[in-house]
Amino acid sequence: MGLRGVCILLSAVSLAMLAACSQPRQEPYPVENIVYTETGSMMPVPFSHRSHLAKGAACQDCHPVIFEMRQGMADATKRLNMKTIYEGDYCGVCHNGKKAFGLEKCSGCHLGGHM
Ligand code: HEC
Ligand code: HEC
Ligand code: HEC
Repeated sequence: MGLRGVCILLSAVSLAMLAACSQPRQEPYPVENIVYTETGSMMPVPFSHRSHLAKGAACQDCHPVIFEMRQGMADATKRLNMKTIYEGDYCGVCHNGKKAFGLEKCSGCHLGGHM
């Protein structure tokens, strides 16, 4: 392939990349609640994409820095628990009484509180 061929190829590749970049891919979000059940004697914690998006959250407010886009990862790493949440990670990034209701409102997340 001559220099001209290489140039044409490179232009074609960059055009394709431009097209891909200018059209951000809108990933579908889970419509069903994601339910966290490692809650001991407390009720499980449902997480609703729909209600968070309705409150104005954008995908990048949570993905990928706070949560991977794969259900169960935060539990698989064993880091999603009240200690890390109180330390300001995961749900605790926002649920600190400033951006969203604080952690003292147990029943806000653990539906109805104790089992
Ligand atoms: C307020 C935080 C938050 C926002 C905003 C958010 N997500 Fe999520 N998302 C989560 C959590 C929490 C999980 C589960 C992660 C885990 O369990 O490790 C998740 C998981 C996912 C998954 C994986 C589902 C599965 O079954 O594995 C996808 C896909 C996803 N989100 C897409 C999106 C998209 C697209 C948006 C924007 C339209 C979005 N999310 C906005 C918190 C959020
Ligand atoms: C990026 C910020 C952010 C993160 C991260 C986040 N939330 Fe929220 N959440 C909000 C905001 C904002 C509201 C609405 C204001 C309020 O209710 O205080 C809200 C509301 C809620 C509500 C009440 C509405 C509903 O869905 O019934 C629940 C429950 C809730 N969050 C649970 C969680 C749980 C559980 C996590 C972690 C898995 C989480 N949130 C992570 C910002 C966040
Ligand atoms: C913003 C949401 C939220 C609030 C508010 C909240 N929790 Fe949690 N809690 C969680 C999540 C998420 C988990 C992790 C569940 C999992 O990993 O399956 C959890 C886990 C737990 C666990 C299991 C053991 C542990 O330490 O992780 C206990 C016990 C618990 N919470 C008690 C409480 C109590 C008591 C309160 C009120 C003082 C409270 N939680 C408030 C979201 C919340």
